[in-house]
Amino acid sequence: MTNQDELKRAVARAAIDYVPIDSIVGVGTGSTANFFIDELARIKHKIRGAVASSEASAKRLMGHGIEVLPLNDAGDLQVYVDGADEITSHLHMIKGGGGALTREKIVASASRKFVCVCDASKLVDVLGKFPLPVEVIPMARSSVARQLAALGGQPKLREGFTTDNGNIILDVHGLSIMNPVELESTLDHIAGVVTNGLFARRGADVLLLGTTEGVKTMTV
Ligand code: 5RP
Repeated sequence: MTNQDELKRAVARAAIDYVPIDSIVGVGTGSTANFFIDELARIKHKIRGAVASSEASAKRLMGHGIEVLPLNDAGDLQVYVDGADEITSHLHMIKGGGGALTREKIVASASRKFVCVCDASKLVDVLGKFPLPVEVIPMARSSVARQLAALGGQPKLREGFTTDNGNIILDVHGLSIMNPVELESTLDHIAGVVTNGLFARRGADVLLLGTTEGVKTMTV
């Protein structure tokens, strides 16, 4: 296991403290979320089940014998735990490196508390060095790409990738995102955009950051 993996595992373990007994847990997607799923398996007898933000996470949860419920049957969730590709000290994030941004945003929005779990490399001053993922209805690809370019980005099609919802991803390079709340809304208003990877209007509530000095807890 790499040093970065050790940090991911440490924050995943720390996130277990935020899981209420007898709750249905919102679960994110990605390598850090996978560590969280593995930790969740240790306390599976203390929870009612999970709502997954992707087919991949659902498969991993079920592999551990954790019941996966549809969000429509689960009602509002007490907690959602997920990683991020970039996060600021305001707990605004870029997500979607794994392509699961739409379901992640849906499950996060149905959850009272968003606990973000990251290794220290994800903490940035300004979002945008990581290309911003935008999920797009396939027929709108060119039109959306032109509008993203007009906003100053360089959109690139994520080759050979289809989301769990049957759509494409445009990864937008070259953005320096000074106002993530405003840009999130602007992008959501482009026809053909399903979701963009800015999680700023509804950011995280708690960041568990894995550092070589231990897990740091940050809130806004
Ligand atoms: C997936 C995501 C992930 O949370 C993000 O990509 C971070 O992944 P990892 O924990 O593997 O670094 O948004 O769509």
